[in-house]
Amino acid sequence: MTEVLRIDALELHHVTARGRLRAVDGVTLAIARGETLGLVGESGRGKSTLARCIVGISRPTAGRLAIAGVAPGPGRASRLARARAVQKVFQDPGGALNPCLTVGRIIEELLRVHGVGSRAGRREAALDLARRVGLADFHLARLPHELSGGQRQRVSIARALVLRPALLVCDEAVSALDVSVQAQVLNLLVALQRDLGLTCPFVSHDLAVVRYIGHRIAVMDLGRIVEIGPATAVWERRAHPCTRALVAAIPDAAARHDDAALLEGDVPSPLDPPSGCGFRTRCPFARDRCAKGRPLLREQGGGLAVACHFAEEIAPGAS
Ligand SMILES: Nc1ncnc2c1ncn2[C@@H]1O[C@H](COP(=O)(O)OP(=O)(O)OP(=O)(O)O)[C@@H](O)[C@H]1O
Ligand code: SF4
Ligand SMILES: [Mg+2]
Repeated sequence: MTEVLRIDALELHHVTARGRLRAVDGVTLAIARGETLGLVGESGRGKSTLARCIVGISRPTAGRLAIAGVAPGPGRASRLARARAVQKVFQDPGGALNPCLTVGRIIEELLRVHGVGSRAGRREAALDLARRVGLADFHLARLPHELSGGQRQRVSIARALVLRPALLVCDEAVSALDVSVQAQVLNLLVALQRDLGLTCPFVSHDLAVVRYIGHRIAVMDLGRIVEIGPATAVWERRAHPCTRALVAAIPDAAARHDDAALLEGDVPSPLDPPSGCGFRTRCPFARDRCAKGRPLLREQGGGLAVACHFAEEIAPGAS
């Protein structure tokens, strides 16, 4: 397995007027070439903060991060190398695009900034990518406001891929789109994964979305990964109660089974996390031990790891 991204004990703390907020609180993971890792969790659980650390927009407080084996350092050369290696597609397809540039210019912009190819070569690359993401040739002459939300997100994807980055970081890339358009853009990303061998940390609050697109899924709660493993195992086993709560949040009743009953109790603030397990104020399985020791990720077999003292009991059949 060739690791494109490796993160070790990564932390990002915000110092606020009300105290220290551990937005990312010790995350360790690796993503292999060609793999999509769905990062899922409720709102405010640290997903975007982690994505921003990977892209280089935010600087971690502690821990290590390496992209294709290289730890990004300070300085212009390192920043440029990272910008070539890591690209992003975020939620707002409108706001992320320069309203004054045509779609063709937007897609080829990064080639120009990085001095790649001739003018004709850049035009050719933009055309090729526009077609790959399902835009018509005539769209290249349009301005972003002349496109639909789905088309704009296709432009964002084409722009992000033009430098052939090692990593494509998606953060709620389909969340702002209508459900039918969401499906089209997800299908496009799956096709690009297949054709270009993309390596992709894919953030979403929606477990159904990451299940569809992710080879593996990591569930985040209070800045930590509480469950990680193959998408099928995470979805079918739901070994961590937090994963069960995310299933219960999916509007599709067929997916919910008996999980709906689990959404009770106070949602703790990351500024004042509970002692022990961060999920215990809402966990129907919580008992004394959960208040004392912080559960660490433990292997459950089949590549699944779960941070719950009672994972074997909650999801029998492990290891
Ligand atoms: N600049 C900041 N200063 C202080 N706290 C911040 C700052 N940015 C984010 N936070 C806090 O860090 C925590 C993690 O935020 P983050 O945006 O990573 O969550 P998220 O999981 O992406 O949520 P969502 O699903 O709503 O996008 C939240 O509690 C948020 O309020
Ligand atoms: S450690 Fe305890 S509180 Fe935390 S998820 Fe497991 S059972 Fe629930
Ligand atoms: Mg977010």
